[in-house]
Amino acid sequence: MNVLVAGGAGFIGSNFINYILSTRDDYLIVNLDKLTYAGNLENLKLCEKNKNYHFVKGDITNNELADYLFKKYEINFVINFAAESHVDRSILGSEVFYRTNVIGTNVLLEAARRYNVKKFLQVSTDEVYGSLGSTGLFTEQTPLSPNSPYSSSKAAADMAALAVHHTYGLPVVITRCSNNYGPFQFPEKLIPLMIINSLNNKKLPVYGDGLYVRDWIYVIDHNKAVELVFEKGRAGEVYNIGASREMKNIDIVKLILNKLGKSEELIEYVKDRPGHDRRYAIDSSKIQNELGWKPKFEFEQAIDSTIDWYLQNKNWWERIISGEYKKYYEVQYGIY
Ligand code: NAD
Ligand code: TYD
Repeated sequence: MNVLVAGGAGFIGSNFINYILSTRDDYLIVNLDKLTYAGNLENLKLCEKNKNYHFVKGDITNNELADYLFKKYEINFVINFAAESHVDRSILGSEVFYRTNVIGTNVLLEAARRYNVKKFLQVSTDEVYGSLGSTGLFTEQTPLSPNSPYSSSKAAADMAALAVHHTYGLPVVITRCSNNYGPFQFPEKLIPLMIINSLNNKKLPVYGDGLYVRDWIYVIDHNKAVELVFEKGRAGEVYNIGASREMKNIDIVKLILNKLGKSEELIEYVKDRPGHDRRYAIDSSKIQNELGWKPKFEFEQAIDSTIDWYLQNKNWWERIISGEYKKYYEVQYGIY
């Protein structure tokens, strides 16, 4: 299988490539990544010398490049992780979200169509469903109702992918996963941000009342589901992925402080995110019943090993937070 993995230098994509290349020898992976602020080749050190791995620095919106790569590497499969992925950044400026997430995805879909690829997996998010009240779960039948520029761009990409399946018969599958955590997650996201700020004795900015709920899944569980849907998922279908582990933000923040032996006085309630979705929760019975997937990691153990990873990989995140990230942090939180 010659697989174009787009966005493989980011958090989930790099975990996916590291996992696949350490367990499979039937994948030739071509990783196409623009190396935006979120892309980092340090995440893929283990793969550098693997003969089944090639890295190409490039933008998924580049038609000519896509065409060249599909031809050169005889690409017959695609997994698209590439995206602008952070809600807060999409609120600060949405243009690049639509460019990468919508136009970029369509460029890959069009190339896949020209080269008759056998499967195209679009990595999507539960955020396309919008927000839940205090009860209920997102199923694959839940109407799309995205609320942020990020989630609306992901919903548009999903629609583009399904349209290419419907119109031309390209074998497209879509996964919609809940919030991930684990190694190599960029510090702007809730869990790494709170770990790193705690370690640096900086304030932990909790939006609004802190009672917003996310459904957390360890990144390896997500990637095993991606592998399964990629190989066995039915064309034209959507598969929700989630580990049924709902947590209030404030409880995660307190858990991290507690594990690191820090005081809850570091918590600072700050101005809420505009349009903040109250609750996400996934019904993953379709992938469980149809494909036999099940999450393997318990939240308690996996959050512990995630915290340990950040403790043991200070060099990785110290380099990040001393660069461009400082400017983002200042704009987003008003201080550094
Ligand atoms: P990330 O921001 O860590 O990584 C995104 C990667 O895409 C980076 O390596 C970046 O350089 C690359 N990229 C961005 N624009 C590009 C472009 N124009 N051309 C080529 N490469 C480009 O994101 P992530 O958290 O790893 O998310 C991966 C995918 O999973 C995204 O599609 C996201 O919507 C989806 N997702 C994420 C989560 C989560 O909790 N993080 C949950 C569900 C779904
Ligand atoms: P985030 O990691 O940005 O993921 P998403 O918004 O895509 O679910 O945020 C997770 C939750 O944590 C969300 O409810 C917003 C909240 N949050 C804070 O309270 N403070 C922060 O500094 C960040 C980044 C997020």
